[in-house]
Amino acid sequence: VIAIFGAGSIGCWVGGRLAAGGAAVTLIGRARLMAELGPGVTVTDLDGFTVTAPVTATTDIAAARDAAVVLVTVKSAATADAGRALAAVTGDGTIVVSLQNGVRNAEVLRAALPGRTVLAGMVPFNVIRRGPGAYHRASEGTIFVERGAGPFVEACATAGLPVVERDDMAAVQWAKLVLNLNNAINALSGLPLAAELAQRDYRRCLAAAQREALAVLDRANQPLARLTKLPARWIPRLLPAPDPVFRALARRIVAIDPHARSSMWDDLEAGRPTEIDYIQGEVVALAERVGADAPVNRALIRLIRSAEAGGRRDYTGPELRAELRT
Ligand SMILES: NC(=O)c1ccc[n+]([C@@H]2O[C@H](COP(=O)([O-])OP(=O)(O)OC[C@H]3O[C@@H](n4cnc5c(N)ncnc54)[C@H](OP(=O)(O)O)[C@@H]3O)[C@@H](O)[C@H]2O)c1
Repeated sequence: VIAIFGAGSIGCWVGGRLAAGGAAVTLIGRARLMAELGPGVTVTDLDGFTVTAPVTATTDIAAARDAAVVLVTVKSAATADAGRALAAVTGDGTIVVSLQNGVRNAEVLRAALPGRTVLAGMVPFNVIRRGPGAYHRASEGTIFVERGAGPFVEACATAGLPVVERDDMAAVQWAKLVLNLNNAINALSGLPLAAELAQRDYRRCLAAAQREALAVLDRANQPLARLTKLPARWIPRLLPAPDPVFRALARRIVAIDPHARSSMWDDLEAGRPTEIDYIQGEVVALAERVGADAPVNRALIRLIRSAEAGGRRDYTGPELRAELRT
């Protein structure tokens, strides 16, 4: 059995996708989401895949007891609690995989789960909840997972879900974090991702945040894995291109559903705290450790904090550039 703890967008999509391939999947999540899953989870993607797959859905963490693998898909602020809860029900042989953003969730789980195998994973694509029990993959990419997650990797292979085992997950996670710097900009724009990235001023904000992060990562000698068709270092050079040039290039680099938004936008919309401390916050913290500054990312943290408290999240591109002084 593959159990998924904290089944929201990522958990329900990945769980549904594995179940569609024949895996026995147990989703553990909040009552409101689990109650929506009548005959199963409906998973779709932008390549036209669509299936409703049977899963066991529960709110009871004891259901993780018999799982060979537990995928953790809570937001980063809930990871420590998830670790404590899983410590009470899982045994030494359990493999726990963090399928979360950020760079330290696996570490937090490892501290809470001595004796278990805890591995880092990275999901590159966006998932949106399209309706009750229906989850849609709205962009592309291959899941990366630290080597050692055998039963998960096998279930992915059986289901035709691309996954690659890696030995350099820190480089993978930091490269994803650099891409995720856009989550805050997207949330502050109030626009779907495609509409936001179509505007040069927002892209200039993202380029500034990425350039700053890349400089800090260089100083910290942190390598970056290649996740996109273009290396991470080229992206901030491409982002400021005029709209028609960028449009032509972007079409070849990434496909994205016109309705997709960042999960930080979802969090603000639902009145939940965001993962800003685990994305921009990591850049600022690393900058401090290496004696550098990260004013653009600090400004984004300030604006997201304000949005979390009910402040603005409808900045135009020029307004956001002015706030970031870029
Ligand atoms: N969504 C995406 O497109 C995407 C893409 C790539 C990576 N990611 C990353 O994947 C991770 C998960 O994101 P997501 O968008 O799937 O988040 P999500 O939709 O908020 O799903 C997490 C779910 O876990 C639930 N939860 C938290 N603590 C729980 C507990 N103790 N017991 C049961 N359920 C619990 C949450 O409920 P409450 O809200 O009630 O706490 C929520 O329903 C994040 O690190 C995110 O950055 C997301």
